[in-house]
Amino acid sequence: MDQGNYSRVAEFVLLGLSNSWEFQYFLFVFFNILYMTIVLGNLLIVLTVISEPALHTPMNIMLSNLSILDVFLATYATPKMIHDFLHEPKTISFEGCMVQIFLLHVFAGGKMVLLVVMAYDRYVAICKPLHYATIMNLCKCMGLIIGSWVIGVMHSLSQLAFTLNLPFCGPNIVYSYYCDLTLVIKLACMDTYVPELLMLLDSGLMGMISFLFLLVSYMVILVAVRRHSSAGLAKAHNTLVAHITVVTLFFGPCIFIYAWPFSNSPVDKVLSVFSTVFTPILNPIIYTLRNKDVKSAMHKLKTQYVTPSHLSSCLSQD
Ligand SMILES: *[C@@H]1O[C@H](CO)[C@@H](O)[C@H](O)[C@H]1NC(C)=O
Repeated sequence: MDQGNYSRVAEFVLLGLSNSWEFQYFLFVFFNILYMTIVLGNLLIVLTVISEPALHTPMNIMLSNLSILDVFLATYATPKMIHDFLHEPKTISFEGCMVQIFLLHVFAGGKMVLLVVMAYDRYVAICKPLHYATIMNLCKCMGLIIGSWVIGVMHSLSQLAFTLNLPFCGPNIVYSYYCDLTLVIKLACMDTYVPELLMLLDSGLMGMISFLFLLVSYMVILVAVRRHSSAGLAKAHNTLVAHITVVTLFFGPCIFIYAWPFSNSPVDKVLSVFSTVFTPILNPIIYTLRNKDVKSAMHKLKTQYVTPSHLSSCLSQD
């Protein structure tokens, strides 16, 4: 790579999701509502878990950390996309683009590992219930959560390390609403076969290894649940269905995007929207609304802070 005789592009042009003005107005409203729902829903989970000491179990701490990751995952590109619906031209600086790539891989990588950790937690709880307290305590849970962040950051740094050194000398049109590494890498002024292969291996390994772990752990759990089917395990079964749904909906699009990364198809755009905007809303819906403890804690929160009778009793006490 001869870095001497070209000037690096200053900004990239994002083509967004649509060219039609009317449709972009519609998308503006739609994604605004969706984004606010994601942020409020997930923050409500975090608030509920933090404020209720009875909910401080490894599972719920991981759940609220997953909510935080989901808020970040919904935030690294979506507000910019929403802003861009009403603005032309849709551009992003070179540095901004690299930041988006970095953040996406930190959050997505972190989420993958956290899902694996949550599956491991369920495995211990369901298959080794007598040893749960000794195997899984809050301290170990904290270590696992921090570990998933560290793996996310390392994965992301490894992707950026070679992307930053590519010669971006002119072509700067990204056929998406954010800087998607699979698309940006193709803009480099060189034969991008090797960098694309490296990127594919890097993300592919990360995704495949977590996916295999998840697949194996859920299969082991399902077999165990089937074998000793009793009333208590019906609940475990419900939890499992929730986890498997979230995992499938998150990994499905990722696998598709990376398995066909060399095409600019509209399908890719739809799938990126799906995995970065729609899956963060699943966490509140699927995990929490099926979780009785969280639901009753939310109810408690509501009666504490929202109910007028409580307000008036506060005032009369003062
Ligand atoms: C996320 O995990 C860390 C480490 O275990 C923990 O200290 C923190 O309270 C968790 N965050 C939430 C919102 O539960």
